[in-house]
Amino acid sequence: MSGVFITFEGGDGSGKTTQIMRLASALRDIGCEPLVLREPGGTIVGEGVRDILLDPRHEGLDAVAETLLFAASRAQLSATVIRPALETGRVVICDRYADSTVAYQGYGRGLDLATVRGVNEWATRGLVPDRTILLDIDPGEGIAAAAPAEADRLEREELAVHARVRAGYLELARAEPARWVVIERDRADAVWGSVRAALAPVLERAGLRLEQ
Ligand code: TYD
Repeated sequence: MSGVFITFEGGDGSGKTTQIMRLASALRDIGCEPLVLREPGGTIVGEGVRDILLDPRHEGLDAVAETLLFAASRAQLSATVIRPALETGRVVICDRYADSTVAYQGYGRGLDLATVRGVNEWATRGLVPDRTILLDIDPGEGIAAAAPAEADRLEREELAVHARVRAGYLELARAEPARWVVIERDRADAVWGSVRAALAPVLERAGLRLEQ
């Protein structure tokens, strides 16, 4: 496939949105219109699934049911939006993707990792990002940054779960260093410099060079 598939991962409040917006704007500056997506969501089906997942009334949602809902949203997004876009050579930026399910449902909630990976593989039909940026953040800080007063169901999960999610992400990154780049949360400007540097090689393969 001729496009470039970039994903951002990290704990809640890790600043993914800010970095994704900067990246999209830097790409537009050089005449490239990226496709920016978020998970769960990005399709009509996916946004419906997102509403179910984030609804505070669904406090008792079973972890396996939750995993399959994330996977359903992802299957729809990857089959009907991401793959077709990559086939036409576009840059696709996704705020969370399959690794979120391994980190949150696998490491965070303790579901069997091999099963979660298998579900992901099925949902994505094996589509893996070209580069994944992990914005690493201390879970305590992330929760504070995400405005606890308005926290949704998932954000109200205990800090211990978030610590496991963080450790899981770091393990995923260590296991696949060619795909992942881990960036420490710092000032937004410093983080952007690191994000740009991390993406330069994959963008260059598509003939794209971001301005300094
Ligand atoms: P969202 O409001 O998009 O949070 P964020 O800005 O941190 O991305 O909510 C997404 C929540 O869903 C977030 O807490 C992470 C969680 N999540 C999973 O648990 N598993 C998944 O597969 C995905 C995609 C997200």
